[in-house]
Amino acid sequence: MTEKHSSIVNSGFKRKKLSFVGAGQVGATAAFIAAQKELGDIVILDVMEGIPQGKALDMYEASPIQGFDAHIQGTQNYDDTADSDLVVVTAGIARKAGMSRDDLLTINAKIIAEVVKNIADKSPQCTLIIVTNPLDAMVYTAKQVSGFPSQRVIGMAGVLDSARMRAFIAEALDVSIEDVSACVLGGHGDTMLPLPRYSTVAGIPITQLLSPETVEAICQRTATGGAEIVNYLKTGSAFYAPASSIVEMAEAILKDKKRILPCAAYLDGEYGIEGSYLGVPCKLGGQGIESIMELDLSDDERYSLHSSMHAVRELIAKVDAMHLF
Ligand code: LAC
Repeated sequence: MTEKHSSIVNSGFKRKKLSFVGAGQVGATAAFIAAQKELGDIVILDVMEGIPQGKALDMYEASPIQGFDAHIQGTQNYDDTADSDLVVVTAGIARKAGMSRDDLLTINAKIIAEVVKNIADKSPQCTLIIVTNPLDAMVYTAKQVSGFPSQRVIGMAGVLDSARMRAFIAEALDVSIEDVSACVLGGHGDTMLPLPRYSTVAGIPITQLLSPETVEAICQRTATGGAEIVNYLKTGSAFYAPASSIVEMAEAILKDKKRILPCAAYLDGEYGIEGSYLGVPCKLGGQGIESIMELDLSDDERYSLHSSMHAVRELIAKVDAMHLF
């Protein structure tokens, strides 16, 4: 199109705007998948000078081959993130071999507080997806710092944990991944709660298809799925599956799909839990978390969920004691 037709270019239609804070493996991979899905224009922000600029330009130069239309910009300046519809925060340090997610708490809480303050300032209407570990405590930090309604401050964990469980189920039964759904509740840590009764293949609970030993092994492998990858990579943690999980949530929100996905959500009495983030099935749409689904749990399952909540609460108490908000 020539310049004299530029009035046609400015047609008034506006794409959605997504910002990614953190241009590491998870953030950059998620940004690239989001661009390929044409979810909107993309800003990638990172404190490392040149890194988001270089990655953004590289992604944009892939667009003619991949056939997607999106502006992709790298920056160090929060002004460039202004008026985002959705902001994904992956900033922080990642686990190395031998570290638990909880070991990251003090450093990452400070980073999240700083990032979210800036984001909330520039994009007061955005929905936040928090990815940084220890996940549940970091989403709580983001909610406190932003002052946003809890529907718009969401943690990414359950989609990843249940994707891992789905992968292991499909492998065990040699069936298409498309027919497998899985349910994982609780915190994104060692106390997460895979629920075989609510995990199905074409609607059939896996408890009817696999031996109790195999089901137990799948649940165990799911709960330690993050560490399994860290042990291979040694100097970093998983990123393809986490990035894919972020984009599934982003798509549900930006397209108002009202998908039912497990997310770290702020509980206000649901499951008998008040004032804590925890992984539960949520309806994700244009308003963020539009509702929380309460599953019927057995006494054992409820006990495990509450144990997970206590583990999360301990971390939340440590964050509170840091006086970041
Ligand atoms: C994982 C990290 C990212 O589960 O928490 O892979």
